[in-house]
Amino acid sequence: MIISSAEYIKSSTKLKDCPKDDKPEYAFIGRSNVGKSSLINMLAGRRKLAKISSTPGKTQTINHFLINNNWYLADLPGYGYAKASKTNRKQWSGFATDYIINRMNLLSLFVLIDARHEPIKSDYDFMNFLGTSGIPLARIFTKTDKVRSNMLSKNLIVHDKFMLETWDSLPPSFISSSLTKIGRTEILNYIEETLIFFNKPL
Ligand code: GTP
Ligand code: MG
Repeated sequence: MIISSAEYIKSSTKLKDCPKDDKPEYAFIGRSNVGKSSLINMLAGRRKLAKISSTPGKTQTINHFLINNNWYLADLPGYGYAKASKTNRKQWSGFATDYIINRMNLLSLFVLIDARHEPIKSDYDFMNFLGTSGIPLARIFTKTDKVRSNMLSKNLIVHDKFMLETWDSLPPSFISSSLTKIGRTEILNYIEETLIFFNKPL
């Protein structure tokens, strides 16, 4: 897919403040610092569309970007940020859960996982919650430029095995790097193929 335009629309702290749900949407979720905002910039082909930071907890709102005047990318705040206050964490789970469950135009939720690490239970608990709630998900293993290819293959096998302990089959899964742009074509193809499943709200 060719990205001909990418524009920042707005930042929201509640579902009801999000843009009208009349276009298909893909959202990016995962632990703080996993590379959600960087991946959005990489996919959009714009270096400074979403704000990135080496300090975890940078994105604190749901940020919407309109691509090709046709579909949305939504950048979500990260979870599992150790230094976040309890209130902050509670707020996160409140508004993110509301968004995930009730955002009618959400076609797929990309769950980002750092490719360097073995499975983290909370990531998979979160995916189990998505599964039982009937939310379509895809996994993206990020920062693959930071891991040797044999280690990457080994980690991916461990992740798949772990997931298949509770799932009958694996969701669509991708590897990515916002530095080398690996995964860009595959993820954009997946988006292009799934856009047709969008049912316009009445
Ligand atoms: P929060 O908004 O805090 O939840 O973080 P985020 O998941 O949006 O992460 P962000 O994109 O801000 O990136 C966090 C840090 O990781 C930054 O220093 C990025 O430059 C770095 N980073 C992100 N993606 C990659 C990648 O693919 N490769 C490498 N080497 N670094 C990356
Ligand atoms: Mg971010």
